[in-house]
Parts: sequence; structure tokens; C-alpha cells
Amino acid sequence: MQTSENNQPQEQEQEIEKENELNERRDGKRKREDDNSESESDQEELPLAPRAPHQGYNEEQANLEIEEFSNSQITTNASIPASPPYSPRRVYSGCSTIGNYLIQKKIGEGTFGEMPITALREIRILKRLNHPNIIKLEEMAVKPGNRETNVRGATFMVFPYMEHDLDGILQNPLIRLTPAQVKSYMQQLLRGVEHLHKNLILHRDMKCANILVNNFGVLKIADFGLARPFSKEHGQYTNMVITRWFRPPELLMGATEYDAAVDMWGVGCVFGEILKRRAILPGKSDLDQLDMIWNLLGTPNEQNWPGKSYLKLPIFTEGVLKDFDASNYRKKTLPEKFPAHHFRASTYNLLDDLLRLRPGDRLSATEALKADYFHTHPLPAVPGSKE
Ligand SMILES: Nc1ncnc2c1ncn2[C@@H]1O[C@H](COP(=O)(O)OP(=O)(O)OP(=O)(O)O)[C@@H](O)[C@H]1O
Ligand SMILES: [Mg+2]
Repeated sequence: MQTSENNQPQEQEQEIEKENELNERRDGKRKREDDNSESESDQEELPLAPRAPHQGYNEEQANLEIEEFSNSQITTNASIPASPPYSPRRVYSGCSTIGNYLIQKKIGEGTFGEMPITALREIRILKRLNHPNIIKLEEMAVKPGNRETNVRGATFMVFPYMEHDLDGILQNPLIRLTPAQVKSYMQQLLRGVEHLHKNLILHRDMKCANILVNNFGVLKIADFGLARPFSKEHGQYTNMVITRWFRPPELLMGATEYDAAVDMWGVGCVFGEILKRRAILPGKSDLDQLDMIWNLLGTPNEQNWPGKSYLKLPIFTEGVLKDFDASNYRKKTLPEKFPAHHFRASTYNLLDDLLRLRPGDRLSATEALKADYFHTHPLPAVPGSKE
């Protein structure tokens, strides 16, 4: 079965728009917090291998291969193991040398170089997390430098290999997702996010490119480069996080006091993007981003943000929005944005409850998992099973 959304590639115009969208995606990427990275790169650039087509689920094969996968098919952000392969009992051992790996292709080099200082925080966080829907840091691999020849060393993070990311899946017109598969992805995403938030970790870069999926339909959240611990009593954090299209209104308005709801906005944007097969809020600048959000949900006011505490945020206090006029913005209803005949009420309801202007009004991951959407027909596909 396929999603009812009509997603046929149409005119050239759409192609150009798509191209612009890709450029925007690159431009929308925020600089890493505290990133004083000199690039550690002394590697030559290796081309990305073409992505394998999405093969769908196959229970028998999946069980077999997942078993094999967990035992031996461990690849890395930069490499795959040379012979002999991992022994089945191999556990996270801290550090190996890069000589144990054969670099096949280089992925995840990152917009800002390979090993910024923040990588240490990323490693600490990844080691703390253990969940089927969060990418597992298998180990670190070190390529020693050489003082005499002035060759710099490099450090690699070793992850299990995942065939796809959600961004690639959604951009591939040959891949159709059934409603049950969409539910499965959303359920797994929310389970991963729930685990993060229960462990008091904010991801802060929720977006389709950071959500990995393998050929058995298993989804894992990746890229913890901007993640950080948070406290339940709102702490002060940097505002310079989250790729623009997935950035919530409070951050766009300059908030530095925020919580897990920032990730939930991102989850809402990812959900919308899966349904629509394109970014739902592709802002061209930070102000344009806010404008798009207001066009979709309306400007903040007493009704949707009781107490109007948003007026204390820098964008208002610093006079950036001098001519702010709430009446200039019309709220587009979600069915207007997503043509009504495509989705059921439970789908809209979940989307609506995630994309709330006021952070406190957004569903938490735990609440979202209880939404009707996941408990009404068609039920979420089970990863590794035929659907
Ligand atoms: N374990 C993996 N298996 C397969 N592909 C991966 C894996 N990890 C990352 N990738 C691919 O590499 C891309 C970038 O990875 P990641 O987001 O972790 O790196 P990054 O340094 O943050 O890069 P960017 O700044 O572009 O987000 C992902 O979008 C995904 O396509
Ligand atoms: Mg990334």
C-alpha cells in the first residue's frame, strides 16, 4: 500500500525549487556551539557512495540479518572493519586504531570539520545512551599522527552502518511509504526522543538528515554534535542551535531558557515533512522562518500564548520587531497546508499538538506516543516485518 499523497515529480519548476531547497538546507545549518574547531582533516575527500534503494521490510531476512548485523556488520562514520571482522562478543572497548578498519567511504564529515572540540561532549552523551532508536557509538578509532613527517592524527567515531537517512528517503521519488511505515518511523523517533529526554539530554538538531533508517525499517536518531544535558528547572543555554527549518519559535525569538519542547517542535517538523514529502517551513532567513511559522499557526497572542511571556524575549525587548502587528498574519489551518483528503483526523491532531507556538503546549514524547494516531488503524508497521 502507498501513502495517499500524490508525490509525482512534475515540472522543471519543481526541480528548480527542489534544488533551491537543497541549497537552503545547506545554508540553514547552524554553526556548532562553541566551535573553535580547526579542521582535523588531513584525509583526502572520498566520494559518497550512491545510496541503495529502499528495500522495504522482510521479516525472515530481517531477523537473520539483524542478528548478523549486531554481531559483525559494524561500520563506521568513516570506515568499515577490515578482516578479520568483529567477533560476536566484541563490546565497546574504548579505542582501537584506525588500522583495524578499511576506509571505504567517508560519511558524516560534517559541515564544520571532522572533530570539533564539542565532539568530546558528543562522545560522553552517546556513551550514556543505550536505546534501540538511538545510534550506538561502538568505539573510537585513532589514526596516530607523526611529528617527524608533520602528519596530523585523526580520531573517528565508529557507528553501525545505516543504509539511509530520512532526508534521502523523502527525496527519492521511487520510495513510497505506507501509512503504517510512516507511523512506525514516527513511533520509533518518539521512542528515541523519549529516551533522550528521560535521560535529560536535548538533541538540538532534530531534522530528517539526522534520522537514520536501515533496510529493515529500524530508525535511529544520530548526530549528537549539538546535544547537551539539560535541567528540569529551565536552564540557560545557547540560542545558536537547531537547523533553521526545524528551529522552534522561542529560539527564533531569541530565548536562551528552553527545554525538551525544542526537540518536540523538530519532531513536528519532521512529521510534517514525512507527510508532505518536503520541508514544511523552509525559511530563507531567521526572520523569514518566524514569518512562515506565524503564517501557519498565527502570531502569538493571548489566546495561543496565555500570559504573553513571549513579549519578554529578545526579539521584542530589543526592538527587532518594531512594526509587529498581530493582525497582519493569518493562521492557515493544517488541513489547508496539507490537503484534507490525504490524512485522517488523528494524523492532523498529532501534528497540531506537536506544532504549538507556546513550548509548554507541545506534547512531550511520552504523551505523543499515546496519541490516537499510533493506536488506530493502520497500526504502525513493526520494523523487520513485512508490511
Ligand atoms: N551510522 C551511519 N550509517 C550510515 N550513514 C550515516 C551514519 N551516520 C551518519 N551518516 C550519514 O552522514 C550524514 C551526516 O552525519 P552526521 O549528521 O552524524 O554528521 P555531521 O558531522 O553532523 O554532519 P552534518 O553537519 O552534515 O549534519 C547523515 O545525514 C547520514 O546521511
Ligand atoms: Mg547531521
